[in-house]
Amino acid sequence: MNTPAPRAPSLEQIRAQFPALLRSTAFLDNAGGSHLPRCVIDAMTRYIAENYVQLGGDYPESLAATENVAGAHDMVKLLLNAHAVGEVVLAQSTTALCHLLASCYAQAPRPDRNEIVVCTAGHEANIGAWVKLAERGWVVREWRAELDPDQNQATWRILPHTLRDLLSERTRLVTFPHVSNILGEIVDAAEVAAMAHSVGAKVVCDGVAYVPHRAPDVQRLGVDWYVYSTYKVYGPHAAALFGTREAFAELEGPNHYFIPRDRVPYKFELGGVNHESCAAINGLWDYLCFLAGEASLPARSPSTLTRDRAIIERAFGAMEKLELVMQSMLIDWLCSRRDLKIIGPAHSGPSRVPTISFVVPGRSSRELATRANRDGLAIRYGHFYSKRLIDSTGLEPDDGVVRVSLVHYSSPAEVTRLIAWLERALA
Ligand SMILES: Cc1ncc(COP(=O)(O)O)c(C=O)c1O
Repeated sequence: MNTPAPRAPSLEQIRAQFPALLRSTAFLDNAGGSHLPRCVIDAMTRYIAENYVQLGGDYPESLAATENVAGAHDMVKLLLNAHAVGEVVLAQSTTALCHLLASCYAQAPRPDRNEIVVCTAGHEANIGAWVKLAERGWVVREWRAELDPDQNQATWRILPHTLRDLLSERTRLVTFPHVSNILGEIVDAAEVAAMAHSVGAKVVCDGVAYVPHRAPDVQRLGVDWYVYSTYKVYGPHAAALFGTREAFAELEGPNHYFIPRDRVPYKFELGGVNHESCAAINGLWDYLCFLAGEASLPARSPSTLTRDRAIIERAFGAMEKLELVMQSMLIDWLCSRRDLKIIGPAHSGPSRVPTISFVVPGRSSRELATRANRDGLAIRYGHFYSKRLIDSTGLEPDDGVVRVSLVHYSSPAEVTRLIAWLERALA
């Protein structure tokens, strides 16, 4: 007898996993941070209640605590398809991890390679940390977004070919976002990595705005460093940094002198990581199994899991399918209006994520977003810490753009509600 193919859950079943979605607010601000499914919340609280001890002891609770932390690193590696090529460091935020990495590079200068190319269209987390190295004599080159006239509406884009002239044999690193948290378009990270590698440089890719929507494959992308925030991927307030073994080998982590240099990730995790966050990261596995249609998998302890990358790919495939429907609903409506302008690609499809920004010329983004907030629509305005990008568009940075950010658990009904509200507000 053939086993039936796993069936992805319905949107209704998915939304029922998220206690926060019981509220009447339409959460359309998910690029700021996503909600947590019940199994992630339960994994975290169960850990705190039952297992809140230090690592490294030989009694059962401590063995379980050690396993919990190791399991979270393992989970992130699987999510990034990193097992064969590198390690993962956990910390409190992407901003902290970028600063950690930059300070490690500052301690490991190479006079023959002292240039860094920084994509200024990204979030400041992966810019400011690198720009600071100029104070230590590094040369920082700016890779800017371009206004691309080829599209039906001129659009700000991060174009890999515009990087070429900034690269040389002196380039040590290229830092860039996989997706800008304003523009929403997916940057061809594999192309950027190949270009950087052709001159012997490495790349630091900020995946924060990408991972809530797709499971990156660091091996296929060929990136040296990849960083993202777990609190935007249905998990805890924490972040993860992947590096290839070769990339880690060039650097020495800041943890205590008696911890060997090659003890990665611990050498890079100052004093250890947040254990309850690790429990939540482990809990995400159950949610991804559910999304992949494997709802009947029993809950097991982290290290005894035979976690399978195929389940992760199926789960994120299900997310993408749900997102594409809502993305095109909103973009089609925005494109139908002559009185507003999308900041980013004005078309839907798999080349972008549903983080959608727009402005209404002559109207304040702030005024629109705050009015929507009062009416139960959680959208946002501003520069979203991609201030250099907003500066280059000529928009007033504090007012910035209106940003609507959807994820797979958002609903077409919420998008319809937003559109109806905007129609009234702009009438
Ligand atoms: C694209 C992008 N990169 C980096 C960050 C910074 O992440 P964290 O808050 O973990 O420092 C954010 C936060 O919004 C972001 O959207």
